[in-house]
Amino acid sequence: MSKEPWQEQIDTILAQAGNRSDDQQTGAVAAPLYFSTAFRHQGLGQSTGFDYSRVQTPTRELLESVLATMEHADHAYALSSGMAAIQLVFSQFKTGDHIITSDDLYGGSFRYFDQLTEHYQVEFSQWAGRDFAHLVQLIRPNTKAIWLETPSNPTMKSIDIAATARIAHQHGLQLIVDNTFYTPLLQQPLLLGADVVVHSATKYMSGHNDILAGAVMVNDAAVAEKLTFNLVTTGAVLDPFDCWLLLRSLKTMPLRVRQQQTNAQTLVTYLEKSPAVAKVLYPGKGGMISFYLAATYSVATFLQQLKVISFAESLGGVESLLTVPDEQTHHDMPIAQRRALGITPNLLRLSVGIESEVDLQRDLAQAFSASQI
Ligand SMILES: Cc1ncc(COP(=O)(O)O)c(C=O)c1O
Repeated sequence: MSKEPWQEQIDTILAQAGNRSDDQQTGAVAAPLYFSTAFRHQGLGQSTGFDYSRVQTPTRELLESVLATMEHADHAYALSSGMAAIQLVFSQFKTGDHIITSDDLYGGSFRYFDQLTEHYQVEFSQWAGRDFAHLVQLIRPNTKAIWLETPSNPTMKSIDIAATARIAHQHGLQLIVDNTFYTPLLQQPLLLGADVVVHSATKYMSGHNDILAGAVMVNDAAVAEKLTFNLVTTGAVLDPFDCWLLLRSLKTMPLRVRQQQTNAQTLVTYLEKSPAVAKVLYPGKGGMISFYLAATYSVATFLQQLKVISFAESLGGVESLLTVPDEQTHHDMPIAQRRALGITPNLLRLSVGIESEVDLQRDLAQAFSASQI
């Protein structure tokens, strides 16, 4: 994978994330970790810049500055989960607002949007992500934003962020992109015209399946002010230890993502030739692959036979995970919609890790041959 100048810079920025933050005190190379929830004031009206940990902590502040740099944003927020990040973004909207979303989304986002409709009468319309004339037709007087996940999840459709941003801005709408799958290393939505970026940092940013975290990045000062106020008020912030762990994880993220992508591309070539696979869905970059197991193979047996790859519900980690979206991530989507999108019981989603590509290919091959009906 050849590297663009920005990638060279971000490699250095991430490798040294949080370093030199304690130069004045100790010179510690790794960032210090502050657990304190309260910060002492020298006198009335005086503050070190920290008062109470729901508002801000030194460790979260460090992490958020790195998160902002990664997405070319002026403001970033580190939250307790990806869903908390999504909820923070939606805290801008109110009853009666209308949001257009892409149709093939993380099932948890879909479930949350359903709740917003049921409890707060927020209206949603879905767009398939290709036909821009249809997107314009969906816009109503009360439309406030367009919400995209690209590549889509789990069918890996690519949506043109720049073209969507142009339409959004012509109509005074905010464009929000969930950039969890590609990460800012492979796609930078704010540079393409998006207004807000959301991440489940549980995935590639954490990269080790051991931190639940979310992130929001934004440039607009007025939007940032609203988000800051809402986050400080409700407090779904990332705790100091997880901030520190995430900062540590980001240091190796470029290496991980490059290896995950290289492994994924090798496996795509293998899967496309395998008689056990009816169709491969791969958007051309990244470490996520979806594929349909051929009708003459048993999904249940295939899952049981995997020895290196784990059957589990997440993605983006150093270890490869295989998910059945129809049963797991997308089960809350109505079945008719799942089928219309191509989310069927034999659609499998593979999050490719950094293991040896030879072992991964061998594992798939042996599980395929053991699961033939
Ligand atoms: C694309 C995407 N966005 C958001 C989320 C929610 O993130 P979290 O599980 O960290 O709350 C997920 C979780 O799988 C996801 O895949």
